Amino acid sequence: DLRDYGLSPTNGFLPETLPLARLPDPYYNKWEAIVSNLQALVLSRRLRGIIANLPVLSTVGLENEAEWRRAYSLLGFMLHAYVWGGDAPADRIPESISIPLLEVSAHLELPPVATYAAVCLWNFKPLFLDEGIDNLENLSTLNTFTGSMDESWFYLVSVAIEARGAPIVPLMLGAMKAAQEGDVTSVTQSLRAFAERLTDLTNILQRMHESCDPTVFYHRIRPFLAGSKNMAEAGLPHGVLYETGTGTEEYRQYSGGSNAQSSLIQFFDIALGIEHRPTGERRVDASHDTAGDPSQRHNFIREMRNYMPGAHARFLEDASRASNIRSFVVEHQNEELSLAYDACLAMLSAFRDQHITIVTRYIITPSREVRARSRSRSPEAVRQRNNIAVASTKGKSQAQKGTGGTALIPFLKQARDETGDPAVHSW
Ligand code: HEM
Ligand code: ALA
Repeated sequence: DLRDYGLSPTNGFLPETLPLARLPDPYYNKWEAIVSNLQALVLSRRLRGIIANLPVLSTVGLENEAEWRRAYSLLGFMLHAYVWGGDAPADRIPESISIPLLEVSAHLELPPVATYAAVCLWNFKPLFLDEGIDNLENLSTLNTFTGSMDESWFYLVSVAIEARGAPIVPLMLGAMKAAQEGDVTSVTQSLRAFAERLTDLTNILQRMHESCDPTVFYHRIRPFLAGSKNMAEAGLPHGVLYETGTGTEEYRQYSGGSNAQSSLIQFFDIALGIEHRPTGERRVDASHDTAGDPSQRHNFIREMRNYMPGAHARFLEDASRASNIRSFVVEHQNEELSLAYDACLAMLSAFRDQHITIVTRYIITPSREVRARSRSRSPEAVRQRNNIAVASTKGKSQAQKGTGGTALIPFLKQARDETGDPAVHSW
């Protein structure tokens, strides 16, 4: 049953009960007040002081999963605003955030940072309850760092993709079962439906351009999503330390928020038998497959499963074990079946192509503009022009890395190319 894995048959990896817009117990009002005023608190430089003086609230008042998720999202926003919302990043997290965040993260089996779950999966509301959540026009966010439409849109495009893509989960689980039973017609039909829906998802992704401005994204939103791993140049040489009052705390390092933490997209790869390898390591021919289990080597996409809610990561593990479509297609050598399978790979490649176009426009181009300007003018002028009193983006070479920590374009192009690898007929 999908529910055993924290999935909803209709909403997929989005929660079946809508995210709570606030924690019902007034005991948590301070958290709610801080997060609903995050932008003003950061701009007025008051946030760090307020968090430093905030009492350590207990998690015993959290009564159900929806409340735990809301607490995780609130604390994730507070944490990243605390770390990145000043002239220089802060590397010690006060107990008022650390203690409850560590408890909530342990409960949800997530790292104590603003993951995709915190900012997308558990951070939306439908405008009208009787309309679908797969429609961008019917969605709004609960929390943002900047209060901007651009930031809301950035998260909501992902939410709409999760919602529109949700039916693919039962669809492809059904196809795996049909494959077990040797039902070629049924598997073919499912693959066709999958390919069609992937096109819908690419169309939603494309809508990023409508309401998220690349300059706003790059300079104002993205800095808040950064992680603490390999961030020496950005001002976090050791990572961050979560104070708990024990005196034995150590610095920790985490990846920043990234859609690579979406279980849905990883499920597509699993269902189609697509394998991803460490960047720079490409499959040359099938005989290399025997040279060690690729899943055991360092692989960013796989590592991101540690940044998914525990139950969702377990779902992916079990789905991997059950994955049989690719071998079914190869075995049966049926033309219609092969075409339908290859169409899925082509559509998922097209999705990844569209994504690379977005990354170029939202990260590569703005980062080049900054470098060009700072060559001709002082860095101060650059900062003033962008009018960012918030979120220190010190490192110039930070632009070369995704918030998740990958080498951006080489990583994404390889993931795209790997999507085509299992094709029956090459295209
Ligand atoms: C990975 C940027 C929106 C899906 C990445 C990575 C970057 C990136 C830089 C590399 C991982 C890292 O180091 O962080 C962006 C930008 C976006 C955007 C700038 C919009 C402005 C989206 C959306 C989706 C998405 C809306 C789909 C829901 C993915 C996936 C990966 C990824 C699945 C993992 C790589 C793969 O499976 O091909 N993104 N992203 N991204 N992104 Fe995005
Ligand atoms: N992972 C995205 C980035 O690197 C958010 O900007």
